[in-house]
Amino acid sequence: PRKIIIDTDPGQDDAVAILLALASPEEVQVLGITAVAGNVPLALTQKNARVICELAGRTEVPVFAGCDAPIQRKLVTAEHVHGKTGLDGIPLPDPQMPLQDQHAVDFLIETLRREAPGSVTLCPLGPLTNIATAFARAPDIVPRVAEIVLMGGAYFEVGNITPAAEFNIYVDPKAAEIVFKSGVPIVVMPLDVTHKALTSRAWVEEMRGLGTRVGQAVASWTDFFERFDTAKYGSEGAPLHDPCVIAYLIDPGLFAGRHINVEIETRSALTLGMTVADWWRVTDRPANALFVGSVDRDGFYRLLSDRLARF
Ligand code: BDR
Ligand code: CA
Repeated sequence: PRKIIIDTDPGQDDAVAILLALASPEEVQVLGITAVAGNVPLALTQKNARVICELAGRTEVPVFAGCDAPIQRKLVTAEHVHGKTGLDGIPLPDPQMPLQDQHAVDFLIETLRREAPGSVTLCPLGPLTNIATAFARAPDIVPRVAEIVLMGGAYFEVGNITPAAEFNIYVDPKAAEIVFKSGVPIVVMPLDVTHKALTSRAWVEEMRGLGTRVGQAVASWTDFFERFDTAKYGSEGAPLHDPCVIAYLIDPGLFAGRHINVEIETRSALTLGMTVADWWRVTDRPANALFVGSVDRDGFYRLLSDRLARF
């Protein structure tokens, strides 16, 4: 299996991504989960990460708290999407498993220095603050990262938090700039693909019908999330953004995209956090990311059904 670190701000869709990873030990080995401030403040995201591990019965997975604010800006949160707790849905018990003492950034640095070069993949599902802070503090770890597979950005689908920007990149554009300029191979799951990964009523009922706590939780999270997205986008269901990252690691053939140049807008008040993606290759700026544009939706949901039924 590929060794991965999940960097996350749970978040109902982050939660499904974490469950998908924990249910897929043949493909991915989760070395740790690093929480970052994003959808809700850090105190809640680190707690939610532990709630999810306990729901999965995987209390041995170490959870670390990282940065509580973006590099140069005040935190913007998304309770309007995820609810007050960040994980609104069926009530889940407070976690008993401990939070690790080590800071997430130190864990990232230490792990990348310890593991063989090119053997650890980073999976950011929230703002890129922890990853960029680790890169800035310890540049020696950058060439040791195998790959970064992240959810963030948008091109044809433009913004979901401002007209121009996707939430994860908008919250910490400076961090995104550091990551996109790092030279590490990057795979991006932008809104262009996640808005094609919409849940269906039948799938949500299938989850509920599993008759497990995980199934009920996933159904309730999706119902909660959906009340926002269907009203807003008029879509059939809710986009499961972050699970696209883990699904890509398990079965990259479900996705297709282009190797292109992606730059981050860090100054303009109007378009702050925009991922300026050279989809049509109209510049000679070198490609720095695989920007994914399409997904086999049925295959994606079959994979999720298959893996979530394992709990
Ligand atoms: C991203 O923002 C968060 O609200 C979701 O968890 C996802 O990571 C989508 O823009
Ligand atoms: Ca997220």
